[in-house]
Amino acid sequence: MRSVVHERFGVDPESVLATGQRDVPVPGKGEVLVRVAAASVDRGTWHVMAGLPYPVRLAGFGLRRPRYANPGRSLAGTVVAVGAGVSDFRLGDPVFGTGASALAEYAVARAGRLARMPAGLDPVQAAAVPVSGLTALQAVRDHARIQAGERVLVLGASGGVGVFAVQLAKAAGATVTAVCSGAKAGAVLALGADRVLDYAVDEIGEDGRYDVILDIAGNRPLRMLRRALAPDGRLVLVGGETDGRLLGGTDRQLRAQLANLVTRQRLGTFLASENAADLAELAKLLEAGTLTAPVSHVLPLERAAEAVRVLLDGRAVGKVVVAVR
Ligand SMILES: NC(=O)c1ccc[n+]([C@@H]2O[C@H](COP(=O)([O-])OP(=O)(O)OC[C@H]3O[C@@H](n4cnc5c(N)ncnc54)[C@H](OP(=O)(O)O)[C@@H]3O)[C@@H](O)[C@H]2O)c1
Repeated sequence: MRSVVHERFGVDPESVLATGQRDVPVPGKGEVLVRVAAASVDRGTWHVMAGLPYPVRLAGFGLRRPRYANPGRSLAGTVVAVGAGVSDFRLGDPVFGTGASALAEYAVARAGRLARMPAGLDPVQAAAVPVSGLTALQAVRDHARIQAGERVLVLGASGGVGVFAVQLAKAAGATVTAVCSGAKAGAVLALGADRVLDYAVDEIGEDGRYDVILDIAGNRPLRMLRRALAPDGRLVLVGGETDGRLLGGTDRQLRAQLANLVTRQRLGTFLASENAADLAELAKLLEAGTLTAPVSHVLPLERAAEAVRVLLDGRAVGKVVVAVR
């Protein structure tokens, strides 16, 4: 099969991602083989590609060399084989979710990390959803527990996670102030944000304090975020990119957890869970039209490195998808 191949860690996608031939993988117990129609890339794709920050390697992605054929994860496609013990899926089922080495014609996925592809969505849109949509859903619903009428600030609103988070916070009935670059303000307003701030120009918190802050990107200091948060508000640190090879920005998350012990504000962070129930929940919202999957770039498998580059350069609004067939 055609597959993206990734044989060494490196920060430049053009240097470490190529296209080649690989054997079609065989699904094991509890796994499914998916013929991939499309796969999307996200910040996690870059982390696994670069092997940075170093804890990524300890998390099972290879210590000195990449463990997997390629760093793809979010996918949409069709079930073409099932392993022992899989009863939820049959051959021919259209599915979306997360699998190993998804940037290829075929990929193996655990059955518990797949759900039926939402009706009415094409595979490019469905492939855009898994990692970013799950992260946004869990941030809004489980960690921030956003309620109707609350004032919510979303930092990083135009990115992969942000475009879903803005829509989900609006669907929960919140008033949403979104932060992104000025050039993408129109696209974020179109997703339902009530107001958009340009991170290069505007300060946060000048219009009063927020009940909830979802910090998806930007790396603002904790004290600045806490000043913009109501005395009993909730801050959820989803991510934030730094050059730190050792911690890659997670030191701020550790400090938030410590500060959480001594303040009325709730300061937390989380690691998204890839699970079928939440994928099914997202599918329902997509089918109802409550949620859309914004995709700004679609590239063929041979240009997967460019797909990661689009993301790194900040050219995407929402998701970048690799169309496999
Ligand atoms: N906790 C978890 O389990 C989990 C899961 C998934 C992702 N993450 C993390 O979440 C972060 C975002 O991921 P993503 O895929 O959404 O990334 P992305 O698609 O690259 O989006 C980044 C966003 O950050 C915005 N941004 C850049 N500089 C900013 C600033 N100074 N202030 C406010 N916003 C700024 C960008 O705006 P413009 O494009 O308009 O410049 C864009 O909206 C990453 O650090 C990722 O590792 C965590």
